[in-house]
Amino acid sequence: MILVGPADAGARLPIRYFAAMIPRQDDIRSGLERIATIIVDDHDELGRLVASRMAEVIRRKNAAGQQAVLGLATGSTPIGVYRELIRLHREEGLSFANVLSFNLDEYYPMDPASIHSYHRFMWENLFSQLDIPPANVHIPRGDVRRDEVEAECRGYEEAIQAAGGIDLQLLGIGRTGHIGFNEPGSGSESRTRLVTLDLVTRKDTAADFFGEENVPREALTMGVETIFEAREILILATGEHKADIVRRAVEGEVDHEVAATFLQRHPRTTFYLDRAAAAGLTRIATPWLIGSVEWNQKLVVRAVVWLSHRTGKAILKLTQSDYAEHHLSSLVARYGSPGALNGEVFNALGSRIRGRSKLPTGKRVACFSPHPDDDVISMGGILHKLAVNGNQITVAYMTSGNLAVFDHDVRRHIDFLRRVADEHHLPKEAAHALGARIERFLAAKRPGDVDIPEVQDAKRIIRESEAVAGIRTLGLDEGAARFLDLPFYHTGKVKKDPIGEADIAIIRGLLDEIRPDLVFVAGDLSDPHGTHRLCKEAVERALEESVAAGLPRPEVWLYRGAWQEWPVTEATWLVPLSQEELRLKIQAIFKHQSQKDTAPFPGPDEREFWQRVEARNKGTAAELDRLGLAEYFAMEAYVVAAGTQE
Ligand code: F6R
Repeated sequence: MILVGPADAGARLPIRYFAAMIPRQDDIRSGLERIATIIVDDHDELGRLVASRMAEVIRRKNAAGQQAVLGLATGSTPIGVYRELIRLHREEGLSFANVLSFNLDEYYPMDPASIHSYHRFMWENLFSQLDIPPANVHIPRGDVRRDEVEAECRGYEEAIQAAGGIDLQLLGIGRTGHIGFNEPGSGSESRTRLVTLDLVTRKDTAADFFGEENVPREALTMGVETIFEAREILILATGEHKADIVRRAVEGEVDHEVAATFLQRHPRTTFYLDRAAAAGLTRIATPWLIGSVEWNQKLVVRAVVWLSHRTGKAILKLTQSDYAEHHLSSLVARYGSPGALNGEVFNALGSRIRGRSKLPTGKRVACFSPHPDDDVISMGGILHKLAVNGNQITVAYMTSGNLAVFDHDVRRHIDFLRRVADEHHLPKEAAHALGARIERFLAAKRPGDVDIPEVQDAKRIIRESEAVAGIRTLGLDEGAARFLDLPFYHTGKVKKDPIGEADIAIIRGLLDEIRPDLVFVAGDLSDPHGTHRLCKEAVERALEESVAAGLPRPEVWLYRGAWQEWPVTEATWLVPLSQEELRLKIQAIFKHQSQKDTAPFPGPDEREFWQRVEARNKGTAAELDRLGLAEYFAMEAYVVAAGTQE
């Protein structure tokens, strides 16, 4: 863990409250980073660290006989912090009886009782499990009349002032760089007000609202200056999808188009990042540009590939002066000559290519697919090759994915059922009664309503039959599909429960039964609502338990694809696909008809899944070509999980 301090604390906004505070100059590591930054291994560690800082502030204020005033955020990022605060309250006696809280924002208009409201979010995820008096909780009200909005905002500011200002403010960061809902263009002196949400923000929250058209266009938010007046600010980001905006916020110029950059001028702001969100920072992405580096093989490959991009030259054509001009002379010195270094990296990349003849044969293979379709989207090529190689494959679909089926698809399938029944192939009455129940429910359904069991079942079954059709296309038979339908997904809402014992037990049961030699797990860290991350955690925990119980540890290959691809510098194996193999894979993806045209949860990338796959698989092959290795048509990439390789 490394701390980095603000490099330029001199140039600043009109700060009325902190003129006397001194920036933590001793933390300065690189002139590029303008906000103190802490990078941790993962989401859980981030939660523990931030919660413990919050606990310190609460205890310090309470010990001095004062109330602690916390500014709080919603969204996916702080959930781990809130979970840890609840644990600290339950297990370590941390009391919130003397805490006042002020939330950053609320959608407008928004009924506090709505499943989408930040009121409900905060009570469900935090307050209901603490001893905080309800009167101490403040959240902007999204249910006031439009002509009352101004008074609501003024009153909110006054309440913060009356509380003595915010001691510690928690923030997330949106992909627009917003803090609170201070979207691009928000002024440094803005205060609590009604704002229009940026299109990117509305797309990012579309999944929670069951479609972008349901996302409110406006919100009430604390202003930049309101946030700035907090005595200490902790801003959090996790996941690769935040890497670009984090780099912009930490290393870029202060700019009102990116509200988070204003924090560079706040004397006590710390950015907490997991490794994925920190990946774009210079010290992580290209550390050789800012100082001496402890080289390891992975970093050497990354540096040489980076140089090849910078110069537009194939690896074997990089010269001494290319290295010298890009701060990499010391690397050449380690190898004696550019030729030796170039050759080493060229060979290292080349040895990662595994055609069918170098892939396993006759093994037991388990592919864990978070949703029905991740298997074909992300590893359709290798699944086909492994089937041809005579491996015994099981594809375990971890969740039903029913949430991502449109209602109109249910209607179409019900219509099909009724028509089959009308032709006397099925009991007519039963089919029509089911159809009528489903139609009645769907006609009255409002966005966000949890489906009745018949509709949930229909959606699950639609996806199951698509999954079977998908793997059949790849040459696997129907028996290869196993539908685990893990309980953590059964909330009926986009928000999922944490992984529990029941989930682990189901996966362990499968592992015990098939005793795989090779396991595939989705390694996406930035799927829009964290299901892939939860599924990965569930498989890892189940594997740990089964190894502890005496089963041999299988090799674990991590795949990606729906949201991003492994870069060639990180991949352990690169699996070439011919034109026909890519076509077959895309045909398998087409079998997931309910996800075609417009998937309900496409995430920020608006292309269809097959289009992303085609671009990524061809892109990986093109990358090898650019580096001067062989020319392939397309390629999938896999990373072997640490400690699992034979
Ligand atoms: C939430 C808020 C927003 C979020 C930001 C990141 O109260 O004010 O600024 O912090 O949109 O959201 P997640 O954490 O969901 O990526």
